[in-house]
Amino acid sequence: MEIITTVAGLRQRLAKENAIAFVPTMGNLHAGHLQLVEAARQHGQCVVVSIFVNPLQFGANEDLASYPRTLDADCEKLQAAGVDVVFAPGETEMYPTEQTITVNPPPIANELCGAARPGHFAGVATVVLKLFNMVQPQVAVFGKKDFQQLFIIRELVKQLNLPIEIIGVATRRDDDGLAMSSRNGYLSAAQRLEAPRLQRALQLVVEAARKGEQDFTAIEAQTAQYLTQLGWIVDYISIRSALTLLSAEKTERQLVVLAAAKLGKTRLIDNLEFSLD
Ligand code: PAF
Repeated sequence: MEIITTVAGLRQRLAKENAIAFVPTMGNLHAGHLQLVEAARQHGQCVVVSIFVNPLQFGANEDLASYPRTLDADCEKLQAAGVDVVFAPGETEMYPTEQTITVNPPPIANELCGAARPGHFAGVATVVLKLFNMVQPQVAVFGKKDFQQLFIIRELVKQLNLPIEIIGVATRRDDDGLAMSSRNGYLSAAQRLEAPRLQRALQLVVEAARKGEQDFTAIEAQTAQYLTQLGWIVDYISIRSALTLLSAEKTERQLVVLAAAKLGKTRLIDNLEFSLD
């Protein structure tokens, strides 16, 4: 496995590869990321993983400074997972000059997580487009835990005609159901015990919808109230079309319920896709 920190070095290493499967990450890798790597191995000959904590996607009051940076441990895991190239650029390599050209993501980027994190998805889409241009993969792999991010990246690829196949991989969970996330490490022991309730609350939403409750706004409000009573600070619980991410019409059958809520200062997100058929 090669660890490369410059765009020039990356281009040189990848020049003769024509089946590159790419996994963009911000590091602090866990089993969920390794599942993305495994999917990449199945879709390409040369697996490239990037590790870059992207300042452009963090708001002023977010955890950019404290975001865990664990490059050595990450590289050990990636080596064991059979990765060919790790691309770990520094900030000046990624942004040698002020990034005055950015991607303007679709309007859905201002809803759900984007409502509480203005500019977040513009930062994500911009860095992902830059990484795509640097790596020039045939396939790129993203986790479904970041469902809205995956949706926006699919739109980016579709609307900008990028010749890249996007693969979405199911969320990896701990045994108690908590979606794996680098931010789970911020939770206290008591919060960690409480955290799987977010997933269980989403299951209750799905059960209510499947039982025939048609007032999705009422289900969302009841679920938010349930979590709030247990000490969560709920950002949103929202039932959406799994295909468009727009508010679910009564006729829609392929749905997803998405949630973001804080335990203390730690913001967790999760989602559950379901069908009413
Ligand atoms: O999902 C992430 O880890 C990040 O948003 C990504 C896609 C690597 C862009 O910085």
